Amino acid sequence: MPALPAHAPPSGRLLSVAPMMDWTDRHCRYFLRLISRHTLLYTEMVTTAAILHGDRERLLGFHPAEHPLAIQLGGSEPKDLAECAKIAECRGFDEINLNVGCPSPRVRNGRFGACLMAEPELVADCVRAMCEAVSVPVTVKTRIGIDDRDSYEDLVRFVTTVADAGCRTLIVHARKAWLQGLSPKENRQTPPLRYDMVRRLKSDLPRLEIVLNGGIQTLDEAGRHLSWCDGVMIGRAAYHNPYLLADADRRFYGRGDPKPRTREGVIEDFLPYLREELAKGTRLHAITRHILGLYHATPGGRRWRRRISEGSSRREADETLLLEAADSLGVDEYQENLRRPERRVSVPSPV
Ligand SMILES: Cc1cc2nc3c(=O)[nH]c(=O)nc-3n(C[C@H](O)[C@H](O)[C@H](O)COP(=O)(O)O)c2cc1C
Repeated sequence: MPALPAHAPPSGRLLSVAPMMDWTDRHCRYFLRLISRHTLLYTEMVTTAAILHGDRERLLGFHPAEHPLAIQLGGSEPKDLAECAKIAECRGFDEINLNVGCPSPRVRNGRFGACLMAEPELVADCVRAMCEAVSVPVTVKTRIGIDDRDSYEDLVRFVTTVADAGCRTLIVHARKAWLQGLSPKENRQTPPLRYDMVRRLKSDLPRLEIVLNGGIQTLDEAGRHLSWCDGVMIGRAAYHNPYLLADADRRFYGRGDPKPRTREGVIEDFLPYLREELAKGTRLHAITRHILGLYHATPGGRRWRRRISEGSSRREADETLLLEAADSLGVDEYQENLRRPERRVSVPSPV
């Protein structure tokens, strides 16, 4: 693992989990927090209209254990964004992030998300208003370009305009977005990754904190990128394989137990939360859908996933389902492991 760069600020953003609609809700974040104490977590995008007119407790509620926690806002009206930033700060969020990366048509019709890359002055107005309203950091998550505005010069113009308005941290998804013709999902995989553009940006604008996002699968990869950028944000890989975060505290924050919590330890520590949520009336499936990947790439992974997803929909199911599913990974998996030494991994002991 390469040493951290000399320029690395004492930042909590060395590693973060990306904002993901429908995925990084508060149950998911609580679960991820049990795996890594210090990795920065982001909420799903919340629009200003929803905050101003909707159920704030549902949209903005979180468990105190989730810190450090950033909220991502979607909007393009400076006054509304400033008001929402203030509301979020009062609720205790540690960072306010503006979404300038989402290409979905619904978001585009609301004139926010990635289409705002075409309006750097408007984004600057939004950032200025938010910075004036709050004292926590205001950050922007963006792409490297949209449609035919995809030159390096366009990117620098956008970033410097936004930085001059008071944003010193940009999270850059190293892909452009096509606003016509590609679905949001295709826009996360079809345009090629251009880490070189983000690297050049950091080199030309060294005083800005630049966080790299897009396509990063492992902590080893994250560590390699940290030799030139200030932080790495991981999205899909952290959701599908959450236990990849287990070594993050030791590697990137120099803190935490040298031995990360075992998967079984994570389950055990998740149970009181689960019990409390069920007592409040939360459906089991709404929580357990986020933990299906806990045993990803281990011999018991498929069995765990099947047991949890089938079991969660049963009416009588409760938190003991997790213990039973973990138990079921015991002896058989261990023997399977021994038969296939090339796949040998540490096998969970029953909880
Ligand atoms: C299901 C899903 C929902 C997403 N929702 C958001 C969102 O609300 N706001 C945002 O800025 N990006 C969103 N993204 C994009 C991710 O934050 C990230 O930029 C993208 O997945 C690339 O990172 P990765 O390759 O590590 O996954 C979403 C991605 C996924 C897979």
